[in-house]
Amino acid sequence: MKTRKPFVVGNWKMNGDLIANEHLFTALRASIDRSLLSQVEVAIAPPYPYLGQASAWLGDTEMAWGAQDVASFENGAFTGEVSASMLRDLGCRWVIVGHSERRTLLGETDDLIAHKAERALAQDIGVIVCVGETLEDRESDRTESVLAAQIDALARFTSGVRVDRFVVAYEPVWAIGTGRTASPEQAQAAHVFIRSRLAQAGADAARVRILYGGSVKPASAPSLFVMPDIDGGLIGGASLVAEEFVAICRSAALA
Ligand code: 13P
Repeated sequence: MKTRKPFVVGNWKMNGDLIANEHLFTALRASIDRSLLSQVEVAIAPPYPYLGQASAWLGDTEMAWGAQDVASFENGAFTGEVSASMLRDLGCRWVIVGHSERRTLLGETDDLIAHKAERALAQDIGVIVCVGETLEDRESDRTESVLAAQIDALARFTSGVRVDRFVVAYEPVWAIGTGRTASPEQAQAAHVFIRSRLAQAGADAARVRILYGGSVKPASAPSLFVMPDIDGGLIGGASLVAEEFVAICRSAALA
């Protein structure tokens, strides 16, 4: 039995619409009950425009909702940006920062990501910071140095951060949306490395939850979640299919 409560987060990415979301929320409400939530923490991260809908559908449950990004600015003339205080207004308990899609497609740097995390933490919103290496990094033996740089950049706030407000998601870029999952042993090794680096950065590393993300499906979830340093998952594609997401939450509860 792990001492860290497992956590499963559904990252909907840029998917969904009002009607499809309603079906998904209805199914999640029906299957993810209090007894399951006593064993696994569950959050979903829909696109910004649907956070109000998430609040309406999940507000009377113990499931949490959160955003997929947040501005690094506090407020003001930043057209198109969404501040941490706005997320707080919408009841977000969590925000994902540093997803590899934003690092790669939108040029987000380690420094920017740390700023975003600090903005969220200042509003008492928990942060799920994504880290992970590309295939090229892995094949040229740079996995650890890439992960080290991504974690070290967080050192500005990791000492003293509350462990219920800080989660790391290890998402090897080569496993995201590719159907190619890291093996449980590969993921476990990366999680151990991340945990040791978090300790060096001053975090209460033994208590920080580290989630695995990258093509997690109901079939692959149990063998990943059973690994000692894997504390749940950050789920993309499978979080859009209620039965798959619920099955993944159940495996996390059993691990
Ligand atoms: P997939 O589960 O679709 O591979 O996405 C993983 C991910 O990027 C979650 O943030």
